[in-house]
Amino acid sequence: MWLPVPADLTLLPNDVHVWRIDLDVPEPQLQNLLETLSSDEITRANRFYFPEHRRRFIAGRGSLRSILGGYLGIEPQQVKFDYQPRGKPVLAPHLSNSGIAFNLSHSQGLALCAVNYQRPIGVDLECIHAMSDIETLAQRFFLPREYDVVRSLCGHQQQEIFFRYWTCKEAYLKATGEGLAQLEQIEVVLNITEPAKLQTVDDWSLFELTPTENYLAAIVVAGSDCSLQCWQYSAF
Ligand SMILES: CC(C)(COP(=O)(O)OP(=O)(O)OC[C@H]1O[C@@H](n2cnc3c(N)ncnc32)[C@H](O)[C@@H]1OP(=O)(O)O)[C@@H](O)C(=O)NCCC(=O)NCCS
Repeated sequence: MWLPVPADLTLLPNDVHVWRIDLDVPEPQLQNLLETLSSDEITRANRFYFPEHRRRFIAGRGSLRSILGGYLGIEPQQVKFDYQPRGKPVLAPHLSNSGIAFNLSHSQGLALCAVNYQRPIGVDLECIHAMSDIETLAQRFFLPREYDVVRSLCGHQQQEIFFRYWTCKEAYLKATGEGLAQLEQIEVVLNITEPAKLQTVDDWSLFELTPTENYLAAIVVAGSDCSLQCWQYSAF
């Protein structure tokens, strides 16, 4: 499913490209990626307390720059970002007429970058892990119907369903740029055997992915008739 990138990669209007990025890259590659970052990104990287978090931030931002630079036909360091009021990065005005829309999510050593043409897009990636307070979190952040589904399950099935709800909701809120504040306002309908659907909003497409073992992801993109292609990013 995660294909090496073809030399003649093109993004058609209905395409959604999803890039899987390994964040734990060897030191020489990390240095190359670091050199492409802007001064504010380097400042942000240096604020991380744990070196592992700093390295992963650099790998994520550097890879994002490299991927976007590929679509734009410019060098990674020439990619400029603007930020929406709640922090969603978008291309700076002089690059935004390209129509390239993107979003990034990271969890532990993995990131996903979703790219498409002109449509608002959001991605969320989570590493599935045991949590003692799953039901409390579901009660607090999910709708009553969703909470009932989580409560009806146990063990690994409960974890998986919880993270499916979470990634679908967060991917939608990241597509709109609103962030986690509105988590309970978006209804997701799913069960163990069927793919998730967004219930309360019209004209958005939702895709669920399993990027690798123990990870779950969701992509939400405005409109319908999208075709998803998944690429494995390899750092230069
Ligand atoms: C954005 C948010 C959903 C990220 O959640 P998360 O699970 O911690 O992180 P993810 O890995 O999924 O996504 C992080 C990436 O999403 C992007 N991002 C940041 N803010 C975003 C937003 N509001 N919407 C969409 N994407 C956003 C960035 O690329 C970020 O990567 P970076 O940290 O390397 O810069 C969460 O931090 C949030 O709710 N932010 C809103 C904060 C807010 O409302 N602030 C008010 C300021 S006025």
